[in-house]
Amino acid sequence: MRRPLVAGNWKMHGTRASVAELIDGLRKQEWPVKVDVAVFPSCLHIAQVVEGLGDKAFAVGAQNCAVEPGQGALTGEVAASQLRDAACSMVLVGHSERRQALGDSDQDVTSKFAAAQSCGLTPVLCVGETLEQREAGQTLEVVGRQLDAVISALGIKVFAEALVAYEPVWAIGTGLTASPEQAQHVHAAIRAQLAAHDAQVAGGVRILYGGSVKAANAAELFGMPDIDGGLVGGASLNADEFGAICRAAGN
Ligand code: PGA
Repeated sequence: MRRPLVAGNWKMHGTRASVAELIDGLRKQEWPVKVDVAVFPSCLHIAQVVEGLGDKAFAVGAQNCAVEPGQGALTGEVAASQLRDAACSMVLVGHSERRQALGDSDQDVTSKFAAAQSCGLTPVLCVGETLEQREAGQTLEVVGRQLDAVISALGIKVFAEALVAYEPVWAIGTGLTASPEQAQHVHAAIRAQLAAHDAQVAGGVRILYGGSVKAANAAELFGMPDIDGGLVGGASLNADEFGAICRAAGN
């Protein structure tokens, strides 16, 4: 049985004041015992979140890391080793906003994945197709290629200590959610692709769904056999809504 995980991706949101408010709201929630919860604040607020939620069973992660694991001359980047030092335990790699707007290639994503693991961070590999690709019937091919970039460079065993997040680009921040059946179809394909290399690793890896997840649709999505939780953007900025989504994963 895979333990569900719900992660909040705060993206480029928050000020010290609004993050303090959000921490306060999160502290008041009733958290389900059978669900892992993680939050991914901006790098600037990681220390504040670690301090504010450190006594709760929350994982704190970063939204990106540098391709090199160690410190060095790479202006503007943050190394996985620095994230680890800041008490992060997870990091998102390959979020579609980074792939599309910031030019993260499959090769960059693979390097970041490896950098994260070499520092003891759990990478969350984000994959997903655009609307154009879906309409052209290329969803499984695109997602398969993004996944294969990591498998062929690093091997299948790395997925024993990693998560995958399927996030259709057309569903991110748009209010459009993949139907539970559409999401399950892709999740099952991801697991089958992993299983073709190693059935045991594939059976254990948690595959999160992301794209306009909210309290109103979470239970239905999380009810699907290969959906092991969610990566939540907009709705994770509201403590009550995020709490409700996490509780939906526990039912
Ligand atoms: P959303 O974002 O929930 O606001 O659609 C999800 C994500 O990009 O991780």
